[in-house]
Amino acid sequence: MKNITADELRKMYIDFFVSKGHKQISGASLIPENDPTVLFTTAGMHPLVPYILGAEHPQGRRLTDYQKCIRTGDIDSVGDPHHLTFFEMLGNWSLGDYFKEEAIEYSYEFLTKVLGIDPEKISVTVFAGDDEVPRDEIAASKWKSLGIPEERIYYKGREDNWWGPAGETGPCGPDSEMFYDTGRPKCGPDCGPGCSCGKYFEIWNDVFMGYRKEADGTYHEMERKCIDTGMGIERTVAVLNGKKSVYETEIFSGLLRGIEALCSKKYGESEEDDKSMRIIADHTRTSVFILGDQKGVAPSNVGQGYILRRLIRRAVRHAKKLGIDKPFLSELSKIVIAQYGTPYPELVEHSEFIDHELIKEEEKFSDTLVKGEREFDKMLPNLLKGNSRVISGRLAFKLYDTYGFPIELTEELAKENGFTVDIEGFNAAFQKHQELSRAGAEQQFKGGLADHSEQTTALHTATHLLHAALRKVLGTHVGQKGSNITAERLRFDFTHPEPMTKEQVKEVEDLVNEQIKRDLPVTVETMTLEEARESGAIAFFDSKYGEKVTVYTIGDFSKEVCGGPHVTHTGDMGHFRILKEQSSSAGVRRIKAVLEK
Ligand code: ALA
Repeated sequence: MKNITADELRKMYIDFFVSKGHKQISGASLIPENDPTVLFTTAGMHPLVPYILGAEHPQGRRLTDYQKCIRTGDIDSVGDPHHLTFFEMLGNWSLGDYFKEEAIEYSYEFLTKVLGIDPEKISVTVFAGDDEVPRDEIAASKWKSLGIPEERIYYKGREDNWWGPAGETGPCGPDSEMFYDTGRPKCGPDCGPGCSCGKYFEIWNDVFMGYRKEADGTYHEMERKCIDTGMGIERTVAVLNGKKSVYETEIFSGLLRGIEALCSKKYGESEEDDKSMRIIADHTRTSVFILGDQKGVAPSNVGQGYILRRLIRRAVRHAKKLGIDKPFLSELSKIVIAQYGTPYPELVEHSEFIDHELIKEEEKFSDTLVKGEREFDKMLPNLLKGNSRVISGRLAFKLYDTYGFPIELTEELAKENGFTVDIEGFNAAFQKHQELSRAGAEQQFKGGLADHSEQTTALHTATHLLHAALRKVLGTHVGQKGSNITAERLRFDFTHPEPMTKEQVKEVEDLVNEQIKRDLPVTVETMTLEEARESGAIAFFDSKYGEKVTVYTIGDFSKEVCGGPHVTHTGDMGHFRILKEQSSSAGVRRIKAVLEK
């Protein structure tokens, strides 16, 4: 067996299938083109679905490629020695050309002749059959004819030997998987291919695409049968080099060395640190591929952007655990780009965007992470005093809302301390927050703000940011004297004895824009004016004792008694610019400002 690298394996595979009459095609974007049912491309066949279903492929009926894939199903398992969110898949396809027997022959030849794997080490699984689809004797006898003995051919059911569709609907079929036996002892009498003990390493899957799953859940046999295969590069490189874990291969050595250098720790010395290093390595690699994709997305609170945000934030948290106390993502991303720049030139092309977004998201989260964890640690002794080992939905929501902790991160933090999280409670708090935001908006409507447009709402939130920024830059003597908002601009009068300097104006502007960029959540609560003042809210209204007021909080930056309405997050408000700073009356200054899109 040969010791080969990922670059070598990629080339050997493509060359082999080209020599068997296949055309090499380019891998596709990680963001699926025509499939709203999944966030990312999960397999090499995914972009080829229309052709498997019958469309004519311009390159013919025999294709091969390498495809970048992301599977997010078990992000939370990443950290153990085996899971990855991003991986590369090698594949070969027959679109109505050859079928089962030839596909198995190619697989066997590549494994044993090209990669030099000892046939004695190979075990395979085939579909055991059920009410709808018969037992796959054709595949089994083909394997036998090639020299795989009966005892290394395992028949398995639909859970194990049926593949697809890639999304909710589409082509699928029974498959035959190839496993490498590491030679370690069986973990028990039932140990075999597919067992999680690690004795058997799955390296390749031949899918006999003969069915199509419809939206109503039924399966129809396809007239034109296809072959779809997938070989994971990372796993195969691990097997070929006798490694127990993908993280021990050359594929991860650059990243792990980079992480070691940042924290002066060594991979392989402590299980807990290793876990953090694997998480950082995997999540950084995946984030670089999402950002650097031909359809690259930025971190956000929805869809692919939310997965990206979770990956980055989890990586940042684990970096802090390792004691890395300076920005690191940009540095590590350069290792990934250098490593993959040739097979994936889009990474080089988008390196500036990758860098910029990583730096921004890391910055945004680093400060709040420290505060959030501190908050959590503060609560911990109290939580531990109680009998319950469940973190309330309210607390989880607070961490989400104030500190930007994705709920999954709170769950991880909870788990590390022996707790679980009340997810239903979290969802309820989340919903209530949305309803309250609406309630606040309605109340303001009653309060007489006629124009309810998006623009005035954003300007209103900007007024709060401005107010807080002025108090930070000029001092807490600054208080609101008046405010007037039109669809075009805001006007804000405030107490301050002298004209602001140019520098102060710029500082205030920058501070407001910084908060907009941080995409802070805006939340609303109802309480008495006394409670509001006690909680640190600025309140310049007189109200009767005990009267309820609404308090709007913008992240960790501003807290103010107000009727609303406000945006729910500051991110999309636009760019804040002060047009004028002038005198209004004795001891009162006036600012006019706009939000530019
Ligand atoms: N599409 C098949 C898989 O992902 C080959 O395993």
